[in-house]
Amino acid sequence: MDLTAETIRQALGTRRFGRPLYYFDEIGSTMPEAARRAAAGEAEGTLVIADAQVAGRGRLGRTWLSAAGVNLTFSLILRPTPEQLRRLPIAVAVAGVRAVRALTGLPAQIKWPNDLVLHDRKFAGILIDTETIGDQMRWAILGIGLNVNLDVAAFPEIRDSATSLATAAGRSWNRTELLARLLTDLEDCYDRSAAEGALLAEWRDYSATLGRRVEARSAAGVEIGLAEAADDDGALLLRRDDGSLRRLLSGEISLRPAD
Ligand code: BTN
Repeated sequence: MDLTAETIRQALGTRRFGRPLYYFDEIGSTMPEAARRAAAGEAEGTLVIADAQVAGRGRLGRTWLSAAGVNLTFSLILRPTPEQLRRLPIAVAVAGVRAVRALTGLPAQIKWPNDLVLHDRKFAGILIDTETIGDQMRWAILGIGLNVNLDVAAFPEIRDSATSLATAAGRSWNRTELLARLLTDLEDCYDRSAAEGALLAEWRDYSATLGRRVEARSAAGVEIGLAEAADDDGALLLRRDDGSLRRLLSGEISLRPAD
């Protein structure tokens, strides 16, 4: 098995992230398990990782496919400053791209707001839950699902839109090595993210979205336009066909094929 509590402990090169770690062969979702442990006072960096989830949760109320033996599905307890929380999606997406590019050489990119894609197909998703009391942040739970050795062709529900590192590269990857690399990059990006302007240039460089025509869906409806820029808060600036500019802080986009 390429991913166990023991292989992870041996591979970890971090100071805080992944320490301590709780490994499950199978769990409903790592998100409530991590939240429960955060409520009990566990430290920032605590990792809850599962080989399989039977009730994996994605953004926008979707489910997250979490088959056994092939992927990375985990949650990290964070206790961010307001500034770190605001920049967390950017820090996590940059860390994910760095880790995948360094380990596999594949041209991973970021699809706004924070999906990781290869050739416009999603291979990783990021979920951030927060717990506040009044205006005081208590903790954030960062959930990451990354398709590593999944054979996407075997799953009709995702095979047209998703990929995995193995599908893209034609070979399998060691999940422990990838996790260790990812946690190192996450810790580094998280620690740097408090500094003004940090990681933004790299985030824009990795974007699969900027400069493309996109269809954007948000609470306000559906709009088509040019993804012209992203501001320092990670909002997408969409140039509508009538020339006006729309600022999107959240939502979902479809990429039109590159010209
Ligand atoms: C997305 O929809 O893009 C976000 C997917 C996040 C999935 C991860 S897998 C680990 C953690 N546990 C969950 O139930 N969801 C997140």
